[in-house]
Amino acid sequence: MRTSLTSLLLWSAGSLASVACAKTCSYGDQPQIIAHTGEPVGKEKMYNGVNLYISKPDCKKPKVGVLYLTDVFGIQLAQNKLLADSFARAGFLVVAPDMFNGEPAPMDFDTPGFNATEFTLAHGPSATDPILATAVAYLRTTGVDKIATTGYCYGGRYAFRMLAAGKGVDAGFAAHPSLLEDSEIMAITRPISVAAAETDAMLLPERRPQMEAMLADTTQPYQFNLYGGTSHGFGVRGNVSDPRQKFGKETAFYQAVRWFDAWAGGAL
Ligand SMILES: *[C@@H]1O[C@H](CO)[C@@H](O)[C@H](O)[C@H]1NC(C)=O
Ligand SMILES: *[C@@H]1O[C@H](CO)[C@@H](O)[C@H](O)[C@H]1NC(C)=O
Repeated sequence: MRTSLTSLLLWSAGSLASVACAKTCSYGDQPQIIAHTGEPVGKEKMYNGVNLYISKPDCKKPKVGVLYLTDVFGIQLAQNKLLADSFARAGFLVVAPDMFNGEPAPMDFDTPGFNATEFTLAHGPSATDPILATAVAYLRTTGVDKIATTGYCYGGRYAFRMLAAGKGVDAGFAAHPSLLEDSEIMAITRPISVAAAETDAMLLPERRPQMEAMLADTTQPYQFNLYGGTSHGFGVRGNVSDPRQKFGKETAFYQAVRWFDAWAGGAL
């Protein structure tokens, strides 16, 4: 069993215990796997022309790799690196490819010279799928037995795409996916878990039951969770000073970890 999973289980047991004996047990005493601040601990490496952010767990031989697919702010955004590191602390060997060749979107879309339409067109599936295939090829060289993928916003769509037949990915998680097409949902051949935001112009409330119906039609194991008080991007950029957003960001992370343990041959 991966040691960090043991920590996660202890963490779960501890949080239950804290309900049973609130006076002696503190939630805050439990090992913290997810970090929102601090210095990223992973390293960047070029592999076949793609820059990869790689974050390794402390166990010697991780069994499961995680392909981390960022939002449009890319691996350059500290919160993406920190979340990738959090997955590594949960026992996964994490690889996050630079999907924008060093030129992610600016935080302010109104930045002069940035055209969101052009950006979207330049980074469609024909440009992105080969980058992700290179990242999977790298993960194969590390000796992991299984590969899971986690994707956020822009990357959430690609988490679905990586579950199509022949992509070599065993399970996926997507938080608030953008631009996701029906055909991409219906093409999955592996289990998918989804975290949706309450307020999301890219995944409107009326779209949620449609997605749920399509997920059921795929016949794959699936999960669709809605996090109240959150908005698009919360899985990575949620404001952790707001209790509902903090709960959403952290619980969406553990949702993905549990999903990968259950469906990508983790320790459970
Ligand atoms: C942004 O790019 C699109 C597609 O090339 C173009 O039609 C549009 O006029 C551009 N918008 C601005 C503000 O330049
Ligand atoms: C984050 O949430 C806190 C608490 O609700 C709020 O005071 C603060 O303004 C928020 N920060 C941003 C950048 O929205």
